[in-house]
Amino acid sequence: MTLKSDLGSYRKNYTKNNNFSLDNFDTPLSLFNQWFKEFDNDITDSEVNAMTLSTVGIDGFPKNRIVLLKEFDEEGFTFYTNYNSEKGLSISKNNKVCLSFFWEQHERQVIIKGYAKKISDLKSNKYFNSRPRGSQLGAIVSNQSAVIDSKKELEENLIYLESKYRNKSIPKPINWGGYIVSPVEYEFWQGGENRLHDRARFSYKKNHWIIDRLSP
Ligand SMILES: Cc1cc2nc3c(=O)[nH]c(=O)nc-3n(C[C@H](O)[C@H](O)[C@H](O)COP(=O)(O)O)c2cc1C
Repeated sequence: MTLKSDLGSYRKNYTKNNNFSLDNFDTPLSLFNQWFKEFDNDITDSEVNAMTLSTVGIDGFPKNRIVLLKEFDEEGFTFYTNYNSEKGLSISKNNKVCLSFFWEQHERQVIIKGYAKKISDLKSNKYFNSRPRGSQLGAIVSNQSAVIDSKKELEENLIYLESKYRNKSIPKPINWGGYIVSPVEYEFWQGGENRLHDRARFSYKKNHWIIDRLSP
């Protein structure tokens, strides 16, 4: 494979750092909120709510994958998935997870450690009912993370379900729903000149957030 140049010489200067200050933020959620809004306002044609979810599997290995952030507030960060998927099984054994965001255009990264738990069925139903019918059927068809013989079996099942539910509402599968991740630690990274990046860690201890600046 031919690259434009040697990977070792790929180098970027970080120039967007506008005197990163923590003075105006006593909670990490307010800083996250500001960064998320800034990214959301500036970026078009990108999945702004895509985040990496890391779980530790029953084999002891960490595994990352992208999921979509659907809500965040004081309670935590919510995404939806299949509870019987690999991630679902991992969380059932170890609910310590990590979320991360890379907002390249703003030269920012946020890493959040926390505990995942299932949200109420009521809330999952509400979100499921708001989804397009195609996504609802897809959630039923896909036994997420299971080995399949061919794509054809999914397509045939989809056709069958389309006719089964024609003009009817589609019920949420019991094994599909949301998880909320309640943070215990946030780390914010803002690229800086001469590799003097800013890193701020908020750790939740004894009912309040401790802020530490970390060396890049
Ligand atoms: C942009 C993007 C968004 C995705 N959003 C979700 C999501 O919200 N929920 C989900 O279960 N999988 C989502 N996926 C698929 C996951 O990355 C992953 O393939 C799937 O959840 C199975 O993971 P697992 O086998 O580790 O459980 C998304 C993938 C991409 C690339």
